[in-house]
Amino acid sequence: MSFSREMDRGTPPAIAGDKSVTLTIDGQSVTLPEGTSIMRAASLLGGSIPKLCATDSLESFGSCRLCLVEVEGRNGYPASCTTPVAEGMVVRTQTERLKQLRRGVMELYISDHPLDCLTCAANGDCELQDQAGAVGLRDVRYGYDGATNMGQAKDQSNPYFDFDPSKCIVCSRCVRACDEVQGTFALTIENKGFESKVVASQGEGFLGSECVSCGACVQACPTASLIEKKVVETGTPDRAVVTTCAYCGVGCTFRAEMRGEELVRMVPWKEGKANRGHSCVKGRFAWGYARHQDRVLNPMIRASVDEPWREVSWKEAIAYTASEFRRIQDKYGMRSIGGITSSRCTNEETFLVQKLIRQGFRNNNVDTCARVCHSPTGYGLGQTFGTSAGTQDFDSVMQADVILVIGANPTDGHPVFASRMKKRLRQGAKLIVIDPRRTDLVRSPHIAAEHHLALRPGTNVAMMTALAHVVVTEKLYDESFIRERCDWDEFADWADFVSDPTRSPEAIEPLTGVKAEEVRAAARLYATGGNGAIYYGLGVTEHSQGSSTVMAIANLAMATGNVGRDGVGVNPLRGQNNVQGACDMGSFPHEFSGYRHVSDGKTRALFEDAWGVPLDGEPGLRIPNMLDAAVDGAFKGLFVQGEDILQSDPNTHHVAAGLAAMECVVVQDLFLNETANYAHIFLPGSTFLEKDGTFTNAERRIQRVRKVMAPLNGYADWEIVQLVANAMGLGWTYDHPAQIMEEIAALTPTFAGVSYDRLEAEGSLQWPANDAAPDGTPLMHIDGFVRGKGKFVVTDYVPTDEKTGPRFPLLLTTGRILSHYNVGAQTRRTANTAWHPEDRLEIHPSDAENRGLKDGDWVTLRSRAGETTLRALVTERVAPGVVYTTFHHPETQANVITTDYSDWATNCPEYKVTAVQVSASNGPSDWQQDYARQAERSRRIGVPAAAE
Ligand code: SF4
Ligand code: SF4
Ligand code: SF4
Ligand code: FES
Repeated sequence: MSFSREMDRGTPPAIAGDKSVTLTIDGQSVTLPEGTSIMRAASLLGGSIPKLCATDSLESFGSCRLCLVEVEGRNGYPASCTTPVAEGMVVRTQTERLKQLRRGVMELYISDHPLDCLTCAANGDCELQDQAGAVGLRDVRYGYDGATNMGQAKDQSNPYFDFDPSKCIVCSRCVRACDEVQGTFALTIENKGFESKVVASQGEGFLGSECVSCGACVQACPTASLIEKKVVETGTPDRAVVTTCAYCGVGCTFRAEMRGEELVRMVPWKEGKANRGHSCVKGRFAWGYARHQDRVLNPMIRASVDEPWREVSWKEAIAYTASEFRRIQDKYGMRSIGGITSSRCTNEETFLVQKLIRQGFRNNNVDTCARVCHSPTGYGLGQTFGTSAGTQDFDSVMQADVILVIGANPTDGHPVFASRMKKRLRQGAKLIVIDPRRTDLVRSPHIAAEHHLALRPGTNVAMMTALAHVVVTEKLYDESFIRERCDWDEFADWADFVSDPTRSPEAIEPLTGVKAEEVRAAARLYATGGNGAIYYGLGVTEHSQGSSTVMAIANLAMATGNVGRDGVGVNPLRGQNNVQGACDMGSFPHEFSGYRHVSDGKTRALFEDAWGVPLDGEPGLRIPNMLDAAVDGAFKGLFVQGEDILQSDPNTHHVAAGLAAMECVVVQDLFLNETANYAHIFLPGSTFLEKDGTFTNAERRIQRVRKVMAPLNGYADWEIVQLVANAMGLGWTYDHPAQIMEEIAALTPTFAGVSYDRLEAEGSLQWPANDAAPDGTPLMHIDGFVRGKGKFVVTDYVPTDEKTGPRFPLLLTTGRILSHYNVGAQTRRTANTAWHPEDRLEIHPSDAENRGLKDGDWVTLRSRAGETTLRALVTERVAPGVVYTTFHHPETQANVITTDYSDWATNCPEYKVTAVQVSASNGPSDWQQDYARQAERSRRIGVPAAAE
């Protein structure tokens, strides 16, 4: 089988301008944009100039001197990577003199390089080896007896890649990749001349350095100096399949490079429009969970959760699932069962689960994890703009002049997008961060926020309204935009509301804790600094006023005319890989795919015609309502696909009580997750590597997921849902997810133009893609809002009922860390635990001192809902009065602490504000120890042998 690397034209394309120039290269005439390098021009003509320090993902550098060319009328031999094309230029790239010079340069490199190609892990996949061949080097005249850099110790500290300095040619590609692409600035070239060498940070080695293990340096390295451990272990790949990352909503595309049936490495795909050839540690390296020994590969059932699991055949498991659901419905009624779709599964799988519930269960009891993350985005943007999605593509950030980030931590949560944002900031865009915590973005190499508004958790609406107060009272709004695009009367009402002195920065300062002058300055900057773009995350939505904050953000963007063109907009940074898609596909209990209400007779008739059954016009139950109804005895059966509600939903004790009250809980997942402790049927799931389908990222970009290996469990998830549906008598006949997408397109106006053929041809499409937008929609609301006129909604600040007081004086807020993903089911089963083996509680030094706590001490974290124990991390990243933790490890169970409070419009839980007390502890509490023992027991029983 053939394998080739992606084309590398040596230097990036020229920045698009109006001017082009015509020149001649090796006798061929070519016209290209001004600014193109001679190297790139030659490559576009089909030629190839030898190179080592150049690669088209980095700006040209001109250090290796291998790419010399002759230019008529110029003295010497300019480097083609750093020399731009010019009108009338005549270039020769392959003369005898050039060949001789290049051989000489290469000879010097090779004289200080180990001659172990045959046993080198990169043999056959090494640019140095290729280029030595290309310049015709056959021998090194200097011998190898002099001083060399060979024999230096390897740095093998990083869990995923090694650094072998003896193979380094000091081309600086790694250093530049870390600076230009990733923006971490972890590497430098130390010393000069022969002594020069690459070091990570201050020479601490990769693991101890600032390196975030994104892999950009490994990808850029033209030798085996930086190389994936897996390549060393397995050998070089022999085939590649392009697919999409299954972690976060950035939606990076990768070449899954395989050796036979074994995945060797994931290489970010340069053609990928979401990631443009970059990645983070999760997508690039943390895929080992797919073959982790904990994976359950055979279906299992048990009559009660106190009994051991019993492995059964797929046939028995599916028949039992169908008969249990029918039994429960016969006994307790049609609406006594429901299901939860997975934002980690494909669009096609999600569509099928909600179809199973609507067509098969004949109710609308379907919900999704967006309930606990971005449901307020759906509501808030739906109300104000008319559609539930971000307005921009990721590229748009490169046109932004002022970037306002509120309640989001992109360097940890959406790292590849964060790298792009940081690039724009290094180019001079200004940054405003609104966050209780000093996230990395506030200050990192070459980046400093103009304003960090470190507000108290729970005061977002007051803060956004105060910003609007400044915009309105200082007349910084865009009147012509508002008159043309919005309802002026609604604006006037809203302007009256925000102008009230009680909503001024000065009035809210005691609430938010942020100096009024800082708020005023931030508002002026956003309103007058050019293109203003807002990016937000769960720090906005997971509040009792989540929907209000989303609307307040939309109000501010409309008031300042920052919607409907490149560089502006309102952009939710969506969490899971396919949370956008799960919402689009009709996972909410009140909506069909494409956000159409179930009570709408016309829409219902469309689905009834297609599916051949009458459908319920009453919205179904949301997840918390399903659990409440279960505790009350009215809800008895649940199908949960790829979601661990026991760990991810608020008030763990209540979730457990709800699950325990049901007669049939079916969990379909890769691992026996925490929810499976309460399950009666376990259906093994498949990973993203084992199936075909599509994911939709935070830019509404629909991208293909391609099967790179056969499902270890025997079936892709969509096939399992089809088996259940057919056992319930639905008669589905899908042979491939492409057919499911045909049905989605036929039933969903925003997807009408989407098909696998088009995705194959175009790489990706951003919805809406239909007759009105045949090429998809990178930017929304260009000529008008989807709902017609943009709607200003008055957003009154209502303090949360969760109050601090003498018993619970601190406010807890939660978030994610780069190396882990959500409940950690996947990342905890990879070497990513090297960076984050446990959840820690961040606490300000003054709060720690008041409690006699030191860094690393065990502490009890107690709220009105419950308590847990974890270790303290004393840091000034959090303000006094605020504590913070991640929720990646089930032993910590951060959601035991969170309360039942939720967003007024959508029930999205208020994860970001919990009043707590912190005190010294001797170690994990009794329930945590019991819990760990019980989970361990549950895992052991009936689990098949390891997959490999
Ligand atoms: S892995 Fe990424 S962060 Fe680490 S040194 Fe390489 S480029 Fe920099
Ligand atoms: S490690 Fe690789 S990319 Fe970095 S300077 Fe050495 S050869 Fe170049
Ligand atoms: S986790 Fe997100 S940012 Fe990282 S590679 Fe995957 S899609 Fe990209
Ligand atoms: S490739 Fe041009 S100088 Fe190295």
